[in-house]
Amino acid sequence: MPQPNAFAYRNLDALKEDVARRGLEIGFDDDVSCLGEPLVAGGHTIPNRLGVLPMEGCDGSADGRPGDLTRRRYVRFAQGGSGLLWFEAVAVERMGRANPRQLWIHRDNWEDFARLREEAVAAARAAMGPDHQPFTVIQLVHSGRYSRPIDVPRPVISHHCPYLDPVAKIGPDYPVITDGELEALEDAYVEAARLARRAGFTAVDLKASHRYLGSELLAGFTRPGRYGGSFENRTRFLLNTVRKVRAEVPGVTVVVRLGAYDGLPHPWGWGAAMDGFTGDPAAAPRDLAAWPGPHTPPGPTAAPDLTEPSRLARLLRDAGVALINVTMGNPYFAPHVTRPHDQGTAGQYVPDEHPLFGVNRHFTLAREIQRAVPEIPVAGSGYSWLRQFAGQAAAHNVRHGWVALAGMGRQAFAYPEYARELLEKGRLEPKRSCVTCSKCTQIMRDGGQTGCVTQDKALYRPIYLAGRERATKR
Ligand SMILES: Cc1cc2nc3c(=O)[nH]c(=O)nc-3n(C[C@H](O)[C@H](O)[C@H](O)COP(=O)(O)O)c2cc1C
Repeated sequence: MPQPNAFAYRNLDALKEDVARRGLEIGFDDDVSCLGEPLVAGGHTIPNRLGVLPMEGCDGSADGRPGDLTRRRYVRFAQGGSGLLWFEAVAVERMGRANPRQLWIHRDNWEDFARLREEAVAAARAAMGPDHQPFTVIQLVHSGRYSRPIDVPRPVISHHCPYLDPVAKIGPDYPVITDGELEALEDAYVEAARLARRAGFTAVDLKASHRYLGSELLAGFTRPGRYGGSFENRTRFLLNTVRKVRAEVPGVTVVVRLGAYDGLPHPWGWGAAMDGFTGDPAAAPRDLAAWPGPHTPPGPTAAPDLTEPSRLARLLRDAGVALINVTMGNPYFAPHVTRPHDQGTAGQYVPDEHPLFGVNRHFTLAREIQRAVPEIPVAGSGYSWLRQFAGQAAAHNVRHGWVALAGMGRQAFAYPEYARELLEKGRLEPKRSCVTCSKCTQIMRDGGQTGCVTQDKALYRPIYLAGRERATKR
């Protein structure tokens, strides 16, 4: 549904005025030259301060190999000149795929991933010069409660959640993953990291965001056993996996895409204020009648509190994590938190906040994590709603040390050469920028191979229309 107060600024001054009127902390620098400065992470030089965030295309083969559209996407991203190329979610095991076309790395296809990366790096050098060596990250994931490996949901949950269970039609007797299975899964991440390293990726991301398994565990206040309850137990899976990967995969650099706040109230949420929580799950807010529906986002009860995420960031740093990308929200439940937008997907709620508040949340929470770990670079997310002014906001945040790098997701889909344009011309073109219409997400939800319907129209508009037609017939 279209949002009230969608992006409609005549120029940067009008946007700045709106930011000031709302009392937000979003700043813009006209001089974006700081974005061209190199940065070191884990001993590797990242050639500039701009990145492509992981953007899944749902265009792999049945056995998880990158397809032609996957290669096209990464060549375009790489030619775009970003210093950091964060390759999309790649499952560590078949049953952890979020859709049957999600990439999945295993012994029989790691060489396809090596070719994908090589092609991208060669394209980056051809476009940016022989010295340009992008920092390539592969995102490793188990989709947890959002697993749908064979076109039927096969949720793997770490604990029950009264807000998220109804969305996936999970009943109270549905089993939770056992401690033994989690321990085995840590080893599946190690094996995937080994293969990714062999495929030449600079770094592996042990994804802990968006309420997939790695981040759901962080919110497992009500889970009994070794992986639930206390902070130490809830962070065990992620920290164990980081340590094992670093110990068992020689030469690997580990980074983490960390959800700093998932938008759910305590004790179901991570990074949420704990006010009034007694430690007794029975005392938690269970009155779902106060929430009009499973897709309605949480209200002000879920204010962010980064005490735990900051503590985790410090432990990740101590465990040798070289870079953290801060993200937030749950794209299935509170998508406006993950990606502030003008328009949602079909049937989605209309958020009760202006998208600028969402952008502000991204910037201030990333700043908080960067402050917690000044020794390692933090990359921010959530810039795309700012369209052609996203670069000036990135320059402001980088120059002030709020983050070391700015990553763009939907903007990279719409405008893959955004980084090169910014670095060369100091500006982005309004006509080529992302319009946050959510059609890329809609294609995913409709089961298609996704990209930008607005700017990459010839390829993706027919896929979008076919998906909508199938969905309306269902
Ligand atoms: C179509 C689509 C695919 C995405 N795929 C991934 C993914 O594979 N892994 C991930 O961590 N985030 C994924 N995201 C989230 C983005 O990386 C990013 O965090 C989000 O879009 C907000 O950043 P932006 O405002 O620059 O778009 C995806 C988002 C969209 C819209």
